[in-house]
Amino acid sequence: MTLEISLSRSNIPLVTVAFIFSHELFALSPLRTFTIINFLLVFPVVFTGSSDANLSTKFYCKTCPKVLPIVKSVVESAVSKDSRMGASLLRLHFHECFVNGCDASVLLDDTSSFTGEKTAFPNNNSLKGFEVVDKIKSKLEKVCPGVVSCADILAIAARDSTVFLGGLSWDVKLGRRDSKTTSFAAANSSGFLPVATYNLSSLIQTFKAQGLSTKDLVALSGAHTIGQARCISFRSRIYNDAIIDSSFAKTRQQNCPNTSGSGDNILAPLDRRTPKHFDNKYYKNLLKKKGLLHSDQVLFSGGSTDSLVKLYSKKRKAFSSDFAAAMIKMGDISPLTGSSGEIRKNCRKPN
Ligand code: HEM
Ligand SMILES: *[C@@H]1O[C@H](CO)[C@@H](O)[C@H](O)[C@H]1NC(C)=O
Ligand SMILES: *[C@@H]1O[C@H](CO)[C@@H](O)[C@H](O)[C@H]1NC(C)=O
Ligand SMILES: *[C@@H]1O[C@H](CO)[C@@H](O)[C@H](O)[C@H]1NC(C)=O
Ligand SMILES: *[C@@H]1O[C@H](CO)[C@@H](O)[C@H](O)[C@H]1NC(C)=O
Ligand SMILES: *[C@@H]1O[C@H](CO)[C@@H](O)[C@H](O)[C@H]1NC(C)=O
Repeated sequence: MTLEISLSRSNIPLVTVAFIFSHELFALSPLRTFTIINFLLVFPVVFTGSSDANLSTKFYCKTCPKVLPIVKSVVESAVSKDSRMGASLLRLHFHECFVNGCDASVLLDDTSSFTGEKTAFPNNNSLKGFEVVDKIKSKLEKVCPGVVSCADILAIAARDSTVFLGGLSWDVKLGRRDSKTTSFAAANSSGFLPVATYNLSSLIQTFKAQGLSTKDLVALSGAHTIGQARCISFRSRIYNDAIIDSSFAKTRQQNCPNTSGSGDNILAPLDRRTPKHFDNKYYKNLLKKKGLLHSDQVLFSGGSTDSLVKLYSKKRKAFSSDFAAAMIKMGDISPLTGSSGEIRKNCRKPN
């Protein structure tokens, strides 16, 4: 699957991809050809995306001028009740975009014709915020029915959550449309969503496959300055990793037993100091070998990203502006535009 994934995620214009494929088909074994064709059938959406995402900050100016205040008010009331919800909404946008582009596919519930992404390994028992998205959608449907996509709701909610918790704002580009289908297989496969056990080169590769740079990887990982992780996500780090502060490991071990299956869902903050504030303490933790996830600490473990981690730990403004820029880039991953996809009436199911 490596070839297919790297092709599909690199935002190569359609024509180039088509050429590579027609060229490849002659040279490949029947089995390989079948895999590629099968892949095209399973993931048709990504091949219609181009690097010119065609999104615009003014997309709803005429058709739904109240979209921004409406999303903001629902996000702010949800995050004031439970600050973790801000983290959950930010993460939803990330998980949405890394599987077949920013098309709200992650929001679809299972149906008789497909299994959605919600139970895929990186999402299962972990993603949250679906009810908040439903609330935003139903408010918008009252004011401007059939106009605002679920994919755009996720992009705006991610920004509003970041800002409400103390991060820098950015202008959200809009005009994405929603997918009519989803892919459990893609969400569960290695190569799309990164997982906590990845080493630095796998993380870099996963982001590169989405058209995101190593700098984007380091800046976007700063999202782990808010929110929580389950024991199952950091158990092997606190018991088996070499690069970890020993007193930090001992503290975390008190609430996360080494026995697999026991205490899997017990939570710990991703940023041990200020998990409700969008600041740069995440990077300061890494300098002290107190990153919670293995995939956090590998960003500061003697490799090529050490210098950026140091920079962001010292200069909050450099982090904030690089984070904002990277969020805009992430929001541009293979959106559906024009007449592709649809505007869902209910974010959980195709129309
Ligand atoms: C670099 C690769 C990344 C890996 C391997 C990764 C992995 C994880 C894991 C394992 C968790 C905890 C899940 C759980 O135990 O339930 C988590 C939580 C979180 N991730 Fe990431 N993540 C990555 C990048 C990102 C990015 C790019 C963003 C957003 C821009 C993000 C935002 C979050 C947030 C906000 C949480 C906390 C969610 C909550 O409290 O509900 N992550 N991530
Ligand atoms: C998702 O979690 C449930 C338990 O809550 C488990 O039964 C199921 O096998 C998991 N699915 C996957 C794909 O890991
Ligand atoms: C999903 O991925 C997980 C982790 O890689 C794997 O253990 C599981 O077998 C996969 N499930 C399916 C149904 O492919
Ligand atoms: C990183 O992990 C990948 C996949 O498990 C592996 O092939 C690679 O050798 C690892 N790289 C390093 C530098 O350890
Ligand atoms: C935790 O469990 C792992 C795997 O079962 C084992 O290798 C390791 O020695 C254990 N560590 C501690 C501190 O008990
Ligand atoms: C992007 O916009 C340009 C100019 O408005 C248009 O010609 C083109 O078809 C659009 N592309 C997509 C993918 O919607």
